[in-house]
Amino acid sequence: MAKVDYTKPDFWALKAQKERYPARSVYKLAELTEKFPLLPRDLHTCKVLDLGAAPGSWSLFLLRKFKGRGFLASADLVPLSRRDDQGLFDGKNFFFLQGDLTLAENRDALTTKGPYNLLISDAAPATSGNRSVDTLRSLALAEEVLRYAETALAGGGNMAVKVFQGGDTAALLKRIRELFKTGKSFKPEACRPGSFETYYVGLEKK
Ligand SMILES: C[S@@+](CC[C@H](N)C(=O)[O-])C[C@H]1O[C@@H](n2cnc3c(N)ncnc32)[C@H](O)[C@@H]1O
Repeated sequence: MAKVDYTKPDFWALKAQKERYPARSVYKLAELTEKFPLLPRDLHTCKVLDLGAAPGSWSLFLLRKFKGRGFLASADLVPLSRRDDQGLFDGKNFFFLQGDLTLAENRDALTTKGPYNLLISDAAPATSGNRSVDTLRSLALAEEVLRYAETALAGGGNMAVKVFQGGDTAALLKRIRELFKTGKSFKPEACRPGSFETYYVGLEKK
């Protein structure tokens, strides 16, 4: 099989450049929101939490949709890119926390800004090249995200979380199905060919 050259911008990377998003991953969220009714109809009262948000295309996608309405809190270990946000990251309806989503103090700071109607997480560990190690780390992050769903998500709220396939993802999906009326897995077209990431979606927190 021919090797994929990740240094060359593909269709999604070129589209992201054209539409002024810092990362091609924005189209994964676009597909997720097209496929599932993740966002509430009334964006004025909508609150979203974006975990593992840098460089910021998912956050930017939502803030462009919000047009000043709603509220978005985002968090990442590293700062967001300011290249394409045209001031949206300075808006009153946006809060960014730079820090580790797994730390109690950060969890508390983000939880007090809720409760949220939607929790999205594209958080991923820095890959080591060892698939079992990376899968375990990704699963641990997804489990942390699920704790946010338990404590910071409003009843009826939705969630989409990235996880690397392999390991005990079945147990994670089971927990999602216990917490939400519906739990599904979905791999967007915009995922890189051969990538082993997928997204678990929880709809309508019980
Ligand atoms: C694939 S990127 C997210 C891309 C983002 N959705 C976008 O569209 O711009 C994954 C992010 O997860 C973040 N991350 C990994 N572990 C984290 C942790 N423990 N706390 C906060 N962020 C974390 C990384 O720093 C990285 O920026």
